[in-house]
Amino acid sequence: MNKLFGISLVAVGLSLTSGALAADPVEACAGCHNKDGVSTDSKVPTLAGMSAKYLSDTIGDYQKKARPCPEATVINGDKKGSKTDMCQVVKDLSAADIAKIAQYYSNQTYVKAKQTSDAALAAKGKDIHVKLCDKCHTEGGTVADDDSGFLGGQWMPYLEAQLKDFKAGKRPVPTKMKPKLDEVQDSDIPALVQYYGSVK
Ligand code: HEC
Ligand code: HEC
Repeated sequence: MNKLFGISLVAVGLSLTSGALAADPVEACAGCHNKDGVSTDSKVPTLAGMSAKYLSDTIGDYQKKARPCPEATVINGDKKGSKTDMCQVVKDLSAADIAKIAQYYSNQTYVKAKQTSDAALAAKGKDIHVKLCDKCHTEGGTVADDDSGFLGGQWMPYLEAQLKDFKAGKRPVPTKMKPKLDEVQDSDIPALVQYYGSVK
């Protein structure tokens, strides 16, 4: 009896050790997006609460290098201080890892970034948004089920970079978004960005 008990304890001990050694794929992401997915760096988007579909599709886009991959510095964990980019961090993820990460971040709670915006520009941006964008980015771009990222309450510097990348043809624009974005002048971008920053 005692002997058997001893053996099963050893078995439990071994399985615990191997479980601890198999790295959780979310750890690598938490290095920049934080464990709760609420980013504290204005160039790094908050992922918490986005739909699993948008997250997994987007990770797939980075695996195909379909989106720009600006270099960024890891702020948490073992690799703190090192530099890498989105294309490198996702390149070896399996489909199962991607599903796990997407599920994990979609289950976190979206917290809007604390940032100040210019009221006059935000009012102008709101008019543009309501006219051209709210059909797909409903409620100011805060609804996960739209499967189109978050706009309202997302970090303004991140959004500005995305709008410029879309306009410059560096990030593919969804086919149906293109005609609407074509109506946005480059000089309208600050207004849109300030509006999204003002969504509380
Ligand atoms: C070194 C920092 C860093 C690490 C580590 C990192 N990211 Fe990112 N991530 C970024 C930056 C910076 C951007 C914005 C890139 C841009 O401006 O185009 C981003 C963008 C994203 C986006 C796009 C969000 C959107 O709204 O479209 C997703 C999804 C994402 N990361 C997921 C992940 C996942 C999953 C991991 C872990 C496997 C990860 N990131 C690890 C820095 C990082
Ligand atoms: C026909 C639907 C549609 C319309 C209209 C539309 N969008 Fe989008 N938008 C999308 C989809 C879908 C995505 C996700 C793109 C991807 O997967 O890369 C997106 C993504 C974005 C993103 C990137 C979000 C992120 O997290 O990185 C921004 C910024 C954006 N749209 C801004 C706008 C603005 C500004 C307008 C109005 C001028 C607009 N969109 C109109 C469908 C639309």
